[in-house]
Amino acid sequence: MIVKGTHYKTVWMEGQSVFHIEQNKLPFSFAIFEAKTYQDTCHAISSMIVRGAGAIGASAGFGMAQAFLSAPKEGFKSYVERARQEIEATRPTARNLFFATERVFEAGMKSVDEAVACAQQLAAENDADGEQIGIYGDGLIKEGYRIMTHCNAGWLGFVDWGSALAPIYRAHRSGKRIFVWADETRPRSQGARLTAWEMVNEGIDHRIVPDNAGAYLMAQRQVDMMIVGADRIAANGDTANKIGTLEKAIAANFYGVPFYVAAPTSTFDMNCASGVDIPIEERSEDEVLYQTGPDEHGDIRKVQVCAPGSKAVNPAFDVTPASLIKGIITEKGIVEPNLEAIKKIIPHGNRT
Ligand code: MRU
Repeated sequence: MIVKGTHYKTVWMEGQSVFHIEQNKLPFSFAIFEAKTYQDTCHAISSMIVRGAGAIGASAGFGMAQAFLSAPKEGFKSYVERARQEIEATRPTARNLFFATERVFEAGMKSVDEAVACAQQLAAENDADGEQIGIYGDGLIKEGYRIMTHCNAGWLGFVDWGSALAPIYRAHRSGKRIFVWADETRPRSQGARLTAWEMVNEGIDHRIVPDNAGAYLMAQRQVDMMIVGADRIAANGDTANKIGTLEKAIAANFYGVPFYVAAPTSTFDMNCASGVDIPIEERSEDEVLYQTGPDEHGDIRKVQVCAPGSKAVNPAFDVTPASLIKGIITEKGIVEPNLEAIKKIIPHGNRT
């Protein structure tokens, strides 16, 4: 990703530290958070300094490598096992997190160097997968398309290219005239803050829309296609993604708007037969009851936006049934959302 002319990755590791673009401060300020220990990396994931399925996966892989680097000789195995549990407890829905910890853990049981190399490799794969998703997805985008997306599945949600936004970047860079509707994505506003910030940086024409405007725009024939990311995809194609995705998928199907999911194969969980098996993260009600933003000095402040005394619920994801999804754009091509087709791209299932 290019930020003011400099190429950045969302997450990277140097020495024993893991560096993250601080997503809670965007788009108001651009800062890097250094996680010096695996516990700092856990904090970065759970507090959403780093967020988005792919970026969480890369960060978790690096965190696992940090644990191997810091493990004492005595009690080495129990230390890294406990670290793995702590990392895996940070966010339960994103499959990429578990995909990364299991691989880096296996590598680390051979040697600490292998743990670090494996984590670096996973981050590089995440990057390459996004680029391929961009190539396949671009093939679906026609000149003049108005594309709606939900949440942020762009540069910030992965290590570099993104998933849902990779086809959009590819189409734009190849000279196609395109337009993006960015759903605001309450309660944390990843669309209004992060997707919109990426669009500004990339120079793509876009508008932020309130979450509840999607069906209206589709009814007005102002949406040509919808592409969203995924946090976990079950073996039958049911897809967990940011809360609000399901409503958009229902509206898109009602109005005949093609609804695509974009995700690498590392997001598929063949141990989940269908969407009912996907664990859905519940986050703090404070994310609904309060909003954050900069004051006149640029310091991030919290303001109450709901009736004092009311409680809230905050499920972070919902599951879109495979029947509402036209296709899943992966690094291996566009796949129909059904078990037979998915088995062809993931023939051996999950390791765990
Ligand atoms: O809670 P988040 O912001 O980590 O949510 C994950 C997401 O970014 C989206 O659901 C996204 O579409 C999945 S892939 C980047």
